Amino acid sequence: MIDAATRLYCVFGNPARHSKGPVIHNAAFKNKGINAVYLAFEVQHAAGAVQAVRTLDIRGASVTIPFKESIMEHLDWIDPTARAIGAVNTIVNEDGVLKGYNTDCQAAVAPLIPFGVSGKVVCIVGAGGAARAVAHGIAAQDGDIIITNRTEQKGQALAEAVNARFIPAGEMASIRADVVINTTSIGMTPKVDEISFPPEALIPEMVVMDVVYTPLRTRLLETAEQKGCTTIDGLSMFIAQAAAQFELWTGTAPDTDLMRSTILTTD
Ligand code: ATR
Repeated sequence: MIDAATRLYCVFGNPARHSKGPVIHNAAFKNKGINAVYLAFEVQHAAGAVQAVRTLDIRGASVTIPFKESIMEHLDWIDPTARAIGAVNTIVNEDGVLKGYNTDCQAAVAPLIPFGVSGKVVCIVGAGGAARAVAHGIAAQDGDIIITNRTEQKGQALAEAVNARFIPAGEMASIRADVVINTTSIGMTPKVDEISFPPEALIPEMVVMDVVYTPLRTRLLETAEQKGCTTIDGLSMFIAQAAAQFELWTGTAPDTDLMRSTILTTD
């Protein structure tokens, strides 16, 4: 029941109206019997969003595009991993002290752990915010990282930051990796025919992961599956980052199977 004691959580983004955050966090609050609601707020400025957290005593917030970097200067404390990545996707309100974390990083690695990351050659396609989080997560697990990106300068800068090799996008077909992770928006609705990695470089032993989850079966994952690769869809990372947020906020791990089935059965 929503009453005067109900605690408020939210996502700040722009756009934010398409977010699946409310669906999974509210399902998890209900499942755990926690008196809280999670709403989506489409905001214009990071500063105003953080002020709202302070004024309304919002207990926690997800932060998404385009505020993951600009929100940082308004918070009271930044977790060292989030500082190293240069992006915050989670705010925790600890008795008025606003703390910033990055759960994208561990979320990118969580679905890969069962396949082993340490010592594996992991090719990350892209060098944007998502790529930075993924690369730091893989580096923390001692993966041997290759960065490839359309804009060389950006790719090289990320490669340097995580002690990785950089391979220009034009030479992607020559990449031999154990794991390939697409962090770009290539293949996302509506451009579903685009593919972020050359099919000829996909081989059966590979694990191929896509952070895109609309559609769930991207062209990359479909092609990889046809080639006999193991595939991990973008919902895995989305749910893992949300589950880590939920745990930071409540101290309780949510039921991730429930989160996944809730998304798959909601429009
Ligand atoms: P996010 O924070 O979601 O990662 P971003 O910082 O804008 O978003 O990064 C998007 C990444 O996808 C970048 O690596 C971008 O390549 P550039 O650095 O060359 O811009 C990549 N990307 C997006 N659309 C692309 C496309 N059509 N072809 C190749 N790369 C693309």
